[in-house]
Amino acid sequence: MKQILTTAVGITALTILSSLGVAANSSTQSPSFSEQVAPIVFNRCTVCHRPGEAAPFTLMNYADVKKRGKLIAKVVQKRFMPPWPVKSTDYTFANDRSLSDEEIGTITDWVKNGMPEGDSKKTPSLPAFVEGWQLGTPDLVVRMTEAYTLHAEGPDIYRNFVIPLNLGEDKWVRAIEFRPGARSIVHHSLFYYDTTGEAREQDAKDPVPGFRRMGQGLQRNSVGGWAVGGLPQFLPDGLAYKLPKGSDLILSTHFHPLGKKEKEISTVGIYFADGPPKRGFTAIQLPPVFGALAGVVIPAGEADYRKQESFVLPVDIKVFGVSAHAHYLGKSMKMTATLPGGETRQLVSIPNWDFSWQEEYRYSSELFLPKGTRLDGEVVWDNSTDNISNPNNPPKPVRWGRESTDEMGCVTLMVMAANPSELTKLNSVIRDQVRKAASTSIANRFAGGEGEQRGTLLKRIIEKFDTDGDGKLNDAERAEARKFYRGNRF
Ligand code: HEC
Repeated sequence: MKQILTTAVGITALTILSSLGVAANSSTQSPSFSEQVAPIVFNRCTVCHRPGEAAPFTLMNYADVKKRGKLIAKVVQKRFMPPWPVKSTDYTFANDRSLSDEEIGTITDWVKNGMPEGDSKKTPSLPAFVEGWQLGTPDLVVRMTEAYTLHAEGPDIYRNFVIPLNLGEDKWVRAIEFRPGARSIVHHSLFYYDTTGEAREQDAKDPVPGFRRMGQGLQRNSVGGWAVGGLPQFLPDGLAYKLPKGSDLILSTHFHPLGKKEKEISTVGIYFADGPPKRGFTAIQLPPVFGALAGVVIPAGEADYRKQESFVLPVDIKVFGVSAHAHYLGKSMKMTATLPGGETRQLVSIPNWDFSWQEEYRYSSELFLPKGTRLDGEVVWDNSTDNISNPNNPPKPVRWGRESTDEMGCVTLMVMAANPSELTKLNSVIRDQVRKAASTSIANRFAGGEGEQRGTLLKRIIEKFDTDGDGKLNDAERAEARKFYRGNRF
C-alpha cells in the first residue's frame, strides 16, 4: 500500500512539475521497469539473455526481470554482468558493455523499491536483434563431420576437431563466426589451420572424434577464436588472416561438463576478404608463449604469485586489440606502455580475472606507440583458498601446463607496424625474444633451477635425439638438439 501511495504521489508531483515546465529530478523518483529499467536491460542484457544465445535464461520482459531481480541487482553491483572485465585509465574500448554507475544505481533502487512495473504501455519494444549469423550470411559454412559426446561429469575436456575446407586457392579471412551446437558445455574454441595433414593423421589415430593434444607447430597458424560471452567481430578494415589453399580448419575446443551427457557439433561461418590485405598484423604476448618459458611454479597457498615481462618496440606500432589468458588461478593482469619520454600509459587492466570471460577487446581507435616504447606485461595468480575458483582444496603447487588444472598466463596485444614494411622487423624481434626466453628456460632447467623437472627434460631430450640409441648424445646428435631448441619449436 505504501508503495502504491509513494508512486501515486510521485506521479502527481511529476505531472505538476512537468505541467509547470520544470524538469522532474529523477533521483527523487522511484524508478519503474517500463521507463527506467527496461531500456537498460533490453539494450545491455537481452542480446545474450534471449533464446538461442549464450546466457542460461531470458531477460525479455517485466516478468523475466522481476523473477531474478535480487540476483540481477547483485551481479550488476559486482560488475559480474554484463561481462566486461577489462579497464584502461587511458583508453576506451569499442562496444564497451559495462554499465555506468548511474545505470547500476537505477537497477539497485528499483529492486530496493519493490520492482514496480510502472505504466506497461511505456515499456519500449525489444531492439531488433539479428537472428542466426551475427555478421550476416557467411561466405562459407562448415561443421564438424562427427558429433563429439561429452561426459556428464568429470574433468574439463580440451579436444581438437579437424574440418576439411577444400579451398582451391589461398583465401583471406575477415572473421570466423562460431556457433556451438550444445551452448551450455562449450566454453571456448580457438581456430587454427593445418596444411601438413598432421591434424588429420592425429584424428585418424584417435578412435573418438577429434584428437587431444595439438603440437606447437600447428598452434602458430592461428585464425582467431571464440569464447563464451564474446560476440563475433570482423578484423579492423584492411586486415585478414591467411587461410592457405588446401588447409584444414582445426577447432580447438574447451568443454565444461554440466551434469548431463551432451553431443556437440559446432558450426562455423567464414567471411572472406575480396583479396590479400593491405596491411599485416601480429601479436605481442607478454610473457610470450602463454608463459611457457617464464618458469611458472606457483606454491600452494601463494595468494600473489607474479610474472612480469617487458618488450621494447623496435618500430612504431598501432595497437587495435588486446586479450588475456590464464586458467582458474588467474587473479589479475595488466599491461602498460612507457613512452620513450618516460610517460606511462595503461593499455589494459583486468583487476578480477574470471576464466569465464575471454575475448578480444578492441580499442575505440588504433593507438599509436612509437619505437622505443617499453611494454610491461604482468600476470598475477592466486593459489590460496581465498580464490573461490581454486580447483584444489587444500591448494597444491601448480606448474605451467595445458590442462585446466595447470596454469598459464599472458596479456596479448594485437598490433600493426605503423609503417607496413616494418612488420617483418617487428616479427623478427618478437621471435628473437621468444628464442632468448627459450634458451634461458632450458639453461635454468639444466642448471637444476626447476629441481624435479630437470631429470625428465634431460631424459626427453636424449630420447628424442639419440638416433643411434646408445643412451647418450654424441656431437652430431647434440648439434641437432641445439638446432631444434633454437628453432623455437615450443
Ligand atoms: C555477452 C553476453 C551477456 C550479456 C551482455 C549479459 N549477460 Fe548475463 N549471463 C551471460 C552468461 C553466458 C551467463 C552464464 C554465466 C555462467 O554460467 O557463469 C550469464 C548469467 C547471468 C546471471 C546469473 C548469474 C549467476 O550467478 O547465476 C544473471 C543474474 C545475469 N546474467 C544478468 C545479466 C544482466 C542484468 C545483464 C545486463 C545488465 C546481463 N546479464 C548481460 C551472458 C551475458
